[in-house]
Amino acid sequence: MANYDVIVIGSGPGGYVCAIRCAQLGLKTACVEGRETLGGTCLNIGCIPSKALLHASHQLHEAEHNFAKMGLKGKAPSVDWKQMLAYKTEVIGQNTKGIEFLFKKNKIDWLKGWGSIPEAGKVQVGDEAHTAKNIIIASGSEPSSLPGIEIDQKVVVDSEGALSLPKIPKKMVVIGAGVIGLELGSVYARLGSEVQVIEFLDHITPGMDGEVSKQFQKLLTKQGLGFTLGAAVQKVDVTKTKAKVTYKLRKDDSEATIDADVVLVATGRKPYTDGLGLDALGVKMSERGQITIDKQYATNIPGIYAIGDCVDGPMLAHKAEDEGMAAAEVVAGKHGHVNYGVIPGVIYTHPEVANVGASEEDLKEAGRAYKAGKFSFMGNGRAKANFAADGFVKILADKETDRILGAHIIGPMAGDLIHEICVAMEFGASAQDLAMTCHAHPTYSEAVREAALACGDGPIHS
Ligand code: NAI
Repeated sequence: MANYDVIVIGSGPGGYVCAIRCAQLGLKTACVEGRETLGGTCLNIGCIPSKALLHASHQLHEAEHNFAKMGLKGKAPSVDWKQMLAYKTEVIGQNTKGIEFLFKKNKIDWLKGWGSIPEAGKVQVGDEAHTAKNIIIASGSEPSSLPGIEIDQKVVVDSEGALSLPKIPKKMVVIGAGVIGLELGSVYARLGSEVQVIEFLDHITPGMDGEVSKQFQKLLTKQGLGFTLGAAVQKVDVTKTKAKVTYKLRKDDSEATIDADVVLVATGRKPYTDGLGLDALGVKMSERGQITIDKQYATNIPGIYAIGDCVDGPMLAHKAEDEGMAAAEVVAGKHGHVNYGVIPGVIYTHPEVANVGASEEDLKEAGRAYKAGKFSFMGNGRAKANFAADGFVKILADKETDRILGAHIIGPMAGDLIHEICVAMEFGASAQDLAMTCHAHPTYSEAVREAALACGDGPIHS
């Protein structure tokens, strides 16, 4: 048994970042984690391994489609799936060990096991009870399947199973055209699977700017992904090695089926708080199973805080990280703060898709007068040289004041480019501020400047 200033429960991006910040602020800190390795879903079975597979499969795509055009001749590489999975495992190991190193460096105790909170100020891990002035819950989320569909991680998989399939399926059906379905769907499409995505809505990527969503679907279709939109999956029947997916078309209620070797269920995630003992403690929860917190990340029980996927807001690693830092500052007596208006979202397909702030639909709904400055990567020299000219940058700015309200990018390195606009928004910049900033040539970032110019007197290269 040990006494701590803070015990963080969960070592995902929310939890480990929170623990490090607590330690940096001079608090005696421990972090509870029951997995064999630190890093939570993101590092072990989420963001990091999926990015490894996206990277590897994109390299294959480049070799197959663009190498010969650049004068790089020779046999296109073939896929050694076992080695690709080994590369993915190696990447996970490097990252999770990195967190272990950071814990040691910051003198954070890793309490190994699954934690529960028998009473405020106490955390039980296995047979050991520890005391803590503050407990910060960062227990994350888990995939939420559809009623009646059982995930066996063989034929019917969630995002975790899809990262470790024994072989590349011939036919894959993806249920849900959200971030997970499209990232993993495009990995397998590039590796040769026939991929069909079934989506309940009549468009892909719910919540995304409509124009970007349409362009994204077009580009993914060109890459070989098939889409059935406006279709609600009803059930999945599994024989030994195959599955039959039944769905209902919303326009006429007609039913249809499709066969697959593997079905990926990517219909969202839900907060994970099992086993923490929150019910017995009387911690207030929302109807959607999220822990209810105030603006200081405090639950209704004094000394217990919560952050990340188990509370309200977008389920994004970087949102959890920011909340982790802010909560650490709050318990250290400082003023933790997260600007929820400037949280970027990125889909790591190729091309990447990124957004921050309001979409055109949001602004129309709010009745806000705005202008949209758009620039296609077709007018960007670097993008053309790199076979990456599909897509565009769109900046939305207030019609009167020119203040940037949102930005949407589909194109090369969109996930990195978006941060220039995030910084601008944090500083309350106008589109003209961006347009007047010198951008190095030739870079993809010139497309961002051109979109900013398009909010004013017009871009140069279109
Ligand atoms: P999602 O909520 O993004 O998309 C789920 C999709 O499934 C929706 O479009 C929904 O309409 C559809 N759906 C639901 N029921 C259906 C049915 N019966 N038939 C057909 N379609 C149906 O969820 P997703 O992709 O599983 O991601 C979960 C969370 O993880 C999200 O919050 C996402 O932001 C986060 N995430 C973020 C990543 C990133 O930032 N790159 C990567 C992976 C996950």
